[in-house]
Amino acid sequence: MWNELKAYRASVDNRSILSLFDSDPGRGGNFSASFGDMLFDFSKTNIDAKALDLLIKLAEGADLAGRRDAMFSGEKINETEGRAVLHTALRNLDGGPVLVDGADVMPEVLATLDRMEGFAANVRDGIFKGQGGKITDVVNIGIGGSDLGPVMALQALMPYADGPKCHFVSNVDGAHVSDVLRPLDPATTLVIVASKTFTTIETMTNAQTARAWMSEKVADPAAQFAALSSATEKTAAFGIDASRVFGFEDWVGGRYSMWGPIGLSVMLAIGGPAFRAFLRGAQAMDNHFKAAPLAENLPVLLALVGIWHHQICGYPSRAVLPYEQRLLRLPAYLQQLEMESNGKRVSMDGADLEVVSGPIVWGEPGTNGQHAFYQLIHQGTGVVPCEFMVGAQGHEADLAHMHRLLVANCLAQSEALLRGRSLEEATAIMAAKGLEGAELERQARHRVFPGNRPSTTLVYPLLTPEIFGQIVALYEHRVFVEGVILGINSFDQWGVELGKELATALGPVVAGEKGTEGKDGSTALLVETIRKHGG
Ligand code: F6P
Repeated sequence: MWNELKAYRASVDNRSILSLFDSDPGRGGNFSASFGDMLFDFSKTNIDAKALDLLIKLAEGADLAGRRDAMFSGEKINETEGRAVLHTALRNLDGGPVLVDGADVMPEVLATLDRMEGFAANVRDGIFKGQGGKITDVVNIGIGGSDLGPVMALQALMPYADGPKCHFVSNVDGAHVSDVLRPLDPATTLVIVASKTFTTIETMTNAQTARAWMSEKVADPAAQFAALSSATEKTAAFGIDASRVFGFEDWVGGRYSMWGPIGLSVMLAIGGPAFRAFLRGAQAMDNHFKAAPLAENLPVLLALVGIWHHQICGYPSRAVLPYEQRLLRLPAYLQQLEMESNGKRVSMDGADLEVVSGPIVWGEPGTNGQHAFYQLIHQGTGVVPCEFMVGAQGHEADLAHMHRLLVANCLAQSEALLRGRSLEEATAIMAAKGLEGAELERQARHRVFPGNRPSTTLVYPLLTPEIFGQIVALYEHRVFVEGVILGINSFDQWGVELGKELATALGPVVAGEKGTEGKDGSTALLVETIRKHGG
């Protein structure tokens, strides 16, 4: 099927996307799909009915429906780690039992959610106090999936944040923890150590630093710590009381974990009911993913567009461009979600992949990106498929005129990418400005936009907790579908391990306790230079 798709793509390569709208006046509706109040429009791509049909056959050939059902039913589809993949259980608020090894995990999931909600309410209401009074600030210490999700979610849901102010520390660079802690009062700060394994070096080092900072001002620093972790022995050894430890099972992957305890900082900020609305949104997307036919299924369609652009057309990256300032960190979140999940070189059985692995994912909110990297997207020699997203409304009702400008910019960009500007049009524009001859020709060429550049647009009504939950779950399932089609395990991350091992081994070398013998010439030179400059 890969070859058939590639051959079909080659046969339609010279056709412009714009011409597809001319030959099919209903193309907008025919190549878009809805879920609830959300619309996913992929008509501004070179996908036509035949390409879509082949892509769906590709998904069917990979037994997408079977793999999806295996995931939701708790089969150990993370085969290299022997684990089930059930982050969906964390938002299965009223969906009935979910079995792992024959046992229903839902009672424990819902009990932990209740416990989180009770703790969050106590902190928000001032019942749980710091040693200097009501908790005013929360510092979440975590990295990767124990950081990016809550950071992104809190930013996205800022209009709903009426609890303590949340801050995030992730980098092992001491600058991060110092800058975050400096303005805070330890006596009214709650520190959350978010680490599934409770061994991640960055997180544990930052946690020790925060505890030392806390102990300078408060008598019992551990009393103002909470932990989000499955490693209860380690949280106890750190001195955190079990009542403030919120655990989750190994069937929740780090980058899929913000729906449970790892989302505690978000819950502290927005409160339990808004957090549950966020979960309900994701659960609604789960139900859609499970039930909708492939051709109407948003995660499936989003994935198939991704496969078409990356594996079939060969475009190396995709840009995620939210016209929503509060989705500022969504591109970074999706970088981990997509690149850690689908950046794999072998298939589930260990064989080399037949096609390239997942793409490079990057992006920034519009309109800021327009004044930075969009130049390359419009006129560079490579093609970057763009994934726009925009809310019909903003939360700032008194600034609706600004929101209209934002929306106009979003739509204008996808239109410009589609249409471009021909040499004739550019020449006419420059001639109207009085240019002629060779100078007219030269200047006009700089003003040509090739157009025919693909984009998709996701439109939603307003970025509420529910809609936000839907958007994130949509992308999670998209990554799953792409992984199934590639035949890989999207739920392990062995690629992260080598760097961790080497960093551990280099620690004593950088500290000067060991020499650089055995290191390559470049690494030895870098170590020596850093030492020479006082490192
Ligand atoms: O980067 C690898 C990784 O395992 C991520 O998947 C995970 O989100 C992150 O490290 C943090 O791990 P932990 O929550 O165990 O500290």
